[in-house]
Amino acid sequence: MVEYATIMAELTHKNIILGITGGIAAYKAAVLARLLKAENANVRVCMTDSAITFINPLTFQALSGNPVHNTLLDPHAEAAMGHIELARWADSVLIAPATANTLAKLATGQADNLLTTLCLATCAPIILAPAMNQAMWNNSFTQKNIKRLQQYGMQLIGPDSGNQACGDHGLGRMSEPETIINGLKKYLQQQTPAPQQHPLANINIMITAGPTREAIDPVRYITNRSSGKMGYAIARSAQKLGASVTLISGTVALDCPQGVTRYWAESANDMYQQVKAHIAPIQIFIATAAVADYAPQTPATRKIKKTAETDTLTLTLQKNVDILASISHENPHVFTVGFAAETENVEHYAREKLNNKKLNMIAANQVGHKQGFDVDENTLLVIWENGKKSLPITTKTQLAEQLMQLINQHYQKDQIVRTRSNHETN
Ligand code: PMT
Repeated sequence: MVEYATIMAELTHKNIILGITGGIAAYKAAVLARLLKAENANVRVCMTDSAITFINPLTFQALSGNPVHNTLLDPHAEAAMGHIELARWADSVLIAPATANTLAKLATGQADNLLTTLCLATCAPIILAPAMNQAMWNNSFTQKNIKRLQQYGMQLIGPDSGNQACGDHGLGRMSEPETIINGLKKYLQQQTPAPQQHPLANINIMITAGPTREAIDPVRYITNRSSGKMGYAIARSAQKLGASVTLISGTVALDCPQGVTRYWAESANDMYQQVKAHIAPIQIFIATAAVADYAPQTPATRKIKKTAETDTLTLTLQKNVDILASISHENPHVFTVGFAAETENVEHYAREKLNNKKLNMIAANQVGHKQGFDVDENTLLVIWENGKKSLPITTKTQLAEQLMQLINQHYQKDQIVRTRSNHETN
């Protein structure tokens, strides 16, 4: 009973693409769709043209609660969810029935319909439930294709042996829907790594934190209200996840978290120099610091004196280097996370920064008097290329932990995509 309960939980909220190809067993896919929904999975159905000749897509629309996907070049479907979105959306792709023809296409990397194209584009595991006549199954072409697909990491469930629709008897019947669901769950369970305590072990992370001070003269400077609390909380959280953490800190009154290496930086230029000096081994760069965008062009070498004649004093400011943008442009292999501190249009400006600075992710916060800066609690809107997540108000320690979980997930995903594209180019 306990075992059943844990198995039942495995498909809950999993995004599953049910691919249906053209075989008589397509009618059993309706039961599969129903069983997947009963397991609380999110189901999207993708049918080939020949599957549609066997069973009406409306059946699957009703069972899955989503429109059925069929055409690769349908502008309406593309606008709603095109092949790349589908490929990214999927946690796994289950093709049942998988005909000999589709298996051959997958084995040779063809992409001539929506289903085969999204299989090429997805990083999700692909599970196949073959269904065909016993002679076709035993054919050496099919057997070679099967071997090849298994070498590529695709998983087979079935086929079973028995009486076939064509009157033959032998291997080639699609497994029963319940068997396929159990096989899928078993496979996904094997794939799910045990929660790691230190998922960022061996990863080098650099974090900038705190304010910068831009000298006006030897005793005065321009600064902002950043206390460093957010950046230091992120440093603690990254360290807890096993990362090796380098903190480049503006002037703050906070202790260095245990195990973290800290370098001080007073001005934006100091911070830039420190970042450049230690960036070489870094895989993830998180810019929490409130860096001055402008600094006095020529700081006075002596204290500026008040004079009886002038009531105003003009300072000429010069733009500082954008540390974050420079790191992301010059080190495209580094996973970059920026912050956006805004008093208005928070999401809009944050998205501009995400794009202009070419970042992997940005954490946006509304700032103002006693908001964002120098307080213990905050809220963040975390945005990346295809998604966003609101982290509601809580302590900066909690926020840092939630943010680091998101960074870890996206960093690991990014690594898989990079490794795949490296394999493809080699
Ligand atoms: O330190 P706390 O008191 O805890 O407050 C936290 C915080 C409000 C400082 C933090 O949550 C935050 O929003 N940090 C970013 C502040 C900021 O300077 O935002 P920005 O929108 O001006 O800059 C965008 C990004 O570019 C930031 O990641 C910033 O570090 C980076 N930047 C900006 C200018 C510059 N010259 N170099 C940079 O690297």
